[in-house]
Amino acid sequence: MCLPYSQRMIFSKILIHWYSNNKRDLPWRQTKEPYHIWLSEIILQQTQIKQGLPYYMSFIEEFPSVFDLANANESDVLKLWQGLGYYSRARNLHATSKHVANDLNGKFPDNYIGLLKLKGVGDYTASAIASICFNEPTAVVDGNVYRVLSRYFGIDTPINSSKGTKMYKNLAQELIDTKNPADFNQAIMEFGATQCKPKNPDCRTCPLLDNCIAFSENRISELPVKIKSAKAKKKHFNFLVFVSQDGKTILEKREGKGIWQNLYQFPLVESNKNLEMDELKTLLENHDLVRGASFEMSLYNKDQIVHKLSHQHLYTKFWIVNVNRLLVEGVHTSNVHDYAVPILIGNFIDDFNF
Ligand code: ADE
Repeated sequence: MCLPYSQRMIFSKILIHWYSNNKRDLPWRQTKEPYHIWLSEIILQQTQIKQGLPYYMSFIEEFPSVFDLANANESDVLKLWQGLGYYSRARNLHATSKHVANDLNGKFPDNYIGLLKLKGVGDYTASAIASICFNEPTAVVDGNVYRVLSRYFGIDTPINSSKGTKMYKNLAQELIDTKNPADFNQAIMEFGATQCKPKNPDCRTCPLLDNCIAFSENRISELPVKIKSAKAKKKHFNFLVFVSQDGKTILEKREGKGIWQNLYQFPLVESNKNLEMDELKTLLENHDLVRGASFEMSLYNKDQIVHKLSHQHLYTKFWIVNVNRLLVEGVHTSNVHDYAVPILIGNFIDDFNF
């Protein structure tokens, strides 16, 4: 889309003006320090500003500089990340802090191309850091930007098609205010998050209303268009929460690749169908952690917990397995809070209270 200069100007002027009156007061908006901006943008890729803010504050408090983060144990980083999901992002965050601290003297690259080389930094994050910290006019495109552009220009190319990805990036790049890319990028994201919201946007107060195609054609609720992904696979997870008479339980570290790599979990019995108590008991009789010893078992959550990941839905049961003593070393139940665990397990630990 090749837009006339005047149209580009109107769009970016209105947006930046709106931003100066409506932006939220956020700690990472008080600085242009790349470490802070990088951290905030990686966290905000995972969650919305309201939920991400406490995570940002904890990271900055715990690791005030990139050197502090680089020197941390991976398990402490994962622990602080707990609840944000997508733990490979936390591992990449840690790896990149080491690279910046050890190989780049603590200095982040000062341009888009250099930033893109960092682990875990893609087009979105490199554009955000380059524009906010170094005034480079590289347009960000996130879910908010897709929504604003698709509605304003009435575009129905799916945002998750390769044609769509390129088209929206080019359009945002055409529109960016080259004199003030930092504010333009943050303005369009903020506008999408608080004004041009996914559901029930308040169009009556919208400063872009006069030229908004979706509004004039009554297509606000149809845009943006997204291709539906394949149906998520259903899996059944049975976690065995051992409790011994000397106050211990078992936590195992997840090895191998996968989203929960290096996190801890209770021993898991995975099945392709829902297991009833008798079926699980029979399986356990031959399990390494039980091996013929006597045990008593009860189901903790009567209704299965459904944990939804992007490609799979985990139907989860927590089984309390009472034993005299453990056949492996185990951990004291008073220490389970110290381990980095998937949020599914973290919620159980908080609720069960050992
Ligand atoms: N969402 C993610 N990063 C943002 C930023 N810097 N400003 C507004 N919204 C955002």
